Amino acid sequence: MTDAKTRGYNDMQDHLAALDAAGLLTRIDAPINKDSELSPLVRWQFRGGIPEAERKAFLFTNVTGGDGRVFDIPVTVGALAGNAEIYSVGMGVPVAEIGNCWSNAIANPIAPVVVEDPPCQEIVYEGADLTSGKGLDALPVPVSTPGYDSAPYLTATACVTSDPDTGIQNLGTYRGGLKAPDRIGLKLFMNLGQGGTAHWEKYRTRGEAMPIAMVIGCPPPVAYAAPQKLAKDVDELGVAGGIAGAPIRVAKARTSDLFVPADAEIVIEGLLDPEYFEPEGPFGESHGHINLEEFNFILTVTAITRRSNAVFTSIISQVTPSESSVIKRVAYEPLFLNHLTGHLGVRGVKRVAMHEPLTNLRKVLVIQFDRSVARTEIWRALYGAMSFQAPVGKYLIAVNEDIDPDNLDAVFWSMSYRANLAEDCELMRHRPLGHGPKSGADEDATLLIDATLKADMAPVALPKREYMEHAKELWEQLGLPPLKPEAPWHGYELGDWSAEWDTLADRAAAGDWISNGERSHQQRRTGVEPNTDIRNVGDDG
Ligand SMILES: Cc1cc2nc3c(=O)[nH]c(=O)nc-3n(C[C@H](O)[C@H](O)[C@H](O)COP(=O)(O)O)c2cc1C
Repeated sequence: MTDAKTRGYNDMQDHLAALDAAGLLTRIDAPINKDSELSPLVRWQFRGGIPEAERKAFLFTNVTGGDGRVFDIPVTVGALAGNAEIYSVGMGVPVAEIGNCWSNAIANPIAPVVVEDPPCQEIVYEGADLTSGKGLDALPVPVSTPGYDSAPYLTATACVTSDPDTGIQNLGTYRGGLKAPDRIGLKLFMNLGQGGTAHWEKYRTRGEAMPIAMVIGCPPPVAYAAPQKLAKDVDELGVAGGIAGAPIRVAKARTSDLFVPADAEIVIEGLLDPEYFEPEGPFGESHGHINLEEFNFILTVTAITRRSNAVFTSIISQVTPSESSVIKRVAYEPLFLNHLTGHLGVRGVKRVAMHEPLTNLRKVLVIQFDRSVARTEIWRALYGAMSFQAPVGKYLIAVNEDIDPDNLDAVFWSMSYRANLAEDCELMRHRPLGHGPKSGADEDATLLIDATLKADMAPVALPKREYMEHAKELWEQLGLPPLKPEAPWHGYELGDWSAEWDTLADRAAAGDWISNGERSHQQRRTGVEPNTDIRNVGDDG
């Protein structure tokens, strides 16, 4: 028997307890139908005007099926990444430290350690067991998009595969639609550089079926490493160890030579056919559209192993924001920042933000820069971010530090007044289509926009900070409705301002506008056109 202390990290059940203790878990004991009710219920959390910070993980303890079946395995949704705070509990660091935690783990992986008698194999079903009510049909796998999806889908997977030449393992989150008690339709993208795809290509060349293990309910560091996009041939289990600060315990699978996370809740072992494919989908995708039926991979199950008290984990994906986009956002943003500042050595990059609602992160990237940075560095970052990952970067926009990259209103403000599209915009052709609904096009393009300041600009037209702060106190004393300050909520300077204008403004705020009027009277003149900046006129008038 192991616990979090001896292991050095939480398993999924410790994680649920930690979420509960932090007030981040909603437990539903009422009977809920996994095929028609469960996903729509959790969906309201993402489409019902609930702010990200108030989202919770759900634990359903009384799960039924569309056919009347009652399941003895509870289902949790949103427990990995319902919001950034839930994710930070799983990472074991505050939200602000998630980026650093990823960088350290990637730089300092800790190799897994092999153990015997793993919890994930407390119960083992193999051979004839799999078709006698103990196969996939015994698992409470939800239908994600009732009304469109053709099957219950495994979504919170860490799929283990191995390179047949090197033995290096890969983890990836790939979806699996149930087809029979011992058969899954698996989607591996062929154009996103998936590790599992590269391994399967090698098995296909050999004419052999590829061993695969779909692991569900992993310890959170493992669950987070699976959808992370790491360099080719980096074993995500080592990086997960880097996050946990301890080696991840692994055990040999029952029916293959793969090593699976020993502390997982459920493991589905199987073989991917090298030659035959069958229709898979329709299934709701994270680009916000239904992925229509395609020929995809056939996984024949060879064993299902699990804990005796297993909990089933599902991820809510489809239209973003969703758990699927949060899990990627918090992991991918630091990866891009590291690439630009670390690998490329671009100076002055402050943040990389991926736009999440509806667009799903990969299409719109905003890069925030220090004001002092040279224009050539800004363009190095734009070109670098554009080519880092094939599916990422359709629109890339550079902004200054005062623009909140998560606020598209502010980004459009910057694009509107700080970019001259004839000078500050490049269209780059021939980008791969990446992740998106099929549209008939063969390829896409990238639009790069430098929306940073090219010259000093007049101040932001809001009262100076001290006036706004004083007014906030007044507002509160007057008992007016509570405020949630939205940046920008006070004026600030962008370089084009003078001490003399400060004097005029101070006088006006002190009620002495008459003195300002006398000053302008003294400067009265002829020989200028209306709207002429006073600095463009000499003293000759
Ligand atoms: C909830 C979720 C579902 C995903 N489903 C799939 C999928 O079905 N197929 C796929 O190829 N990638 C899918 N992805 C994306 C991959 O997990 C991601 O690209 C990851 O980097 C793959 O790991 P790899 O590069 O080690 O193969 C999904 C990601 C998430 C978060």
